[in-house]
Amino acid sequence: MSAFPLDKFKAERTPFYYYDLSLLRDTLASIKDAVGGSDYHVHYAVKANVNPVILAAVAAAGMGADCVSGGEIEAALECGVPASSIVYAGVGKSDDEISMALRAGIGCFNVESLEELGIIESIASAMGVVADIALRVNPNVDAHTHHYITTGLQENKFGIALEMLDDAVGYCRGSQSLRLRGLHFHIGSQITTMDPYVILCGRINSLLDEYEAKGVNFDLINVGGGLGIDYDHPDKHPIPDFRAYFDTFRRHLHLRDGQQLHFELGRAVVAQCGSLITRVLYVKQGVNKQFAIVDAGMTDLIRPALYQAHHLIQNLTSESDEECVYDVVGPVCESSDCFGVDERLPVTKRGDILALRSAGAYGESMASRYNLRSLPGTFTD
Ligand code: LLP
Repeated sequence: MSAFPLDKFKAERTPFYYYDLSLLRDTLASIKDAVGGSDYHVHYAVKANVNPVILAAVAAAGMGADCVSGGEIEAALECGVPASSIVYAGVGKSDDEISMALRAGIGCFNVESLEELGIIESIASAMGVVADIALRVNPNVDAHTHHYITTGLQENKFGIALEMLDDAVGYCRGSQSLRLRGLHFHIGSQITTMDPYVILCGRINSLLDEYEAKGVNFDLINVGGGLGIDYDHPDKHPIPDFRAYFDTFRRHLHLRDGQQLHFELGRAVVAQCGSLITRVLYVKQGVNKQFAIVDAGMTDLIRPALYQAHHLIQNLTSESDEECVYDVVGPVCESSDCFGVDERLPVTKRGDILALRSAGAYGESMASRYNLRSLPGTFTD
């Protein structure tokens, strides 16, 4: 089990997110190392974790930011990401958000529809500026992940269908207020084999050939994010295999001279450095079950309730050599407020401190105040 600063935890009010900043820094260094001297640019997907301490560490490592709202753009700027290193995606950008992004001078809009192109054009034209554009293409690649986090299939709301791409390219090229920089793709999240990325590379290669033949060249290709992590063995695989990931693109994507490759990694950067720390409130005897009722709930970490995700649960304080089986559940008034069924843990009692591991991505950032609960605290070390 990784070393937690337990003495410090004991004085803290639970539940809270604990972030291991040295693991985060090692992860960032490993990304930098795997990118090497190549023209690969990683924009951290801010939605994964917008905690200012995390964002500042990511910015200090020289990464850009992939944002999906005006709020995320502001947060990235405040934490030191240069505006030119911010990309802005999302199917429903509001007029105010578009104006704000143009005023800030962000690097690129990842545009999801012809309708959105028209609105960005008219706002940019009224402001007398030119908007840099990457067209988000829906490549119809199955990422084989949970259906809620698959985004690159034809029936998803994301991106411009391949059939409509020509119109979008033509629209940009005919506009004085839009500068077409490239194409953007994102096929899904928590992708644990390289096969979907190999297929994606093939689709991109064909598109590049097709457009080159039509005299259209792009200066950037953005392949989104999605690299998965090992939720079952966070201590065995604390840092994802970034080298294998980048090498997949090196091997299979045929970039043109001078073309940049952009990535938007979220989960792979921050998931393993975070744990949700919670105290056991009650050990309740059921008829055929024992429940460990903890003070964290789905409002603090919604992934199990929303995606049937499982985060490894560890009892950090039990001194017992004996094990027992518990359903680990939260206090929220929903049956889905359950972190684990039939979890084998050392004998657990009221007051024990548990860790829900690999919770640094889409944990704190998805917390809510349902049931008027307080938001979880944070503790960084
Ligand atoms: N780029 C785009 C356009 C995206 O939509 C996403 C994630 C990313 C990049 C970053 O993907 P990542 O590298 O983190 O897989 N809440 C869900 C995940 C939703 C992902 C949404 N889009 C979860 O907890 O599993």
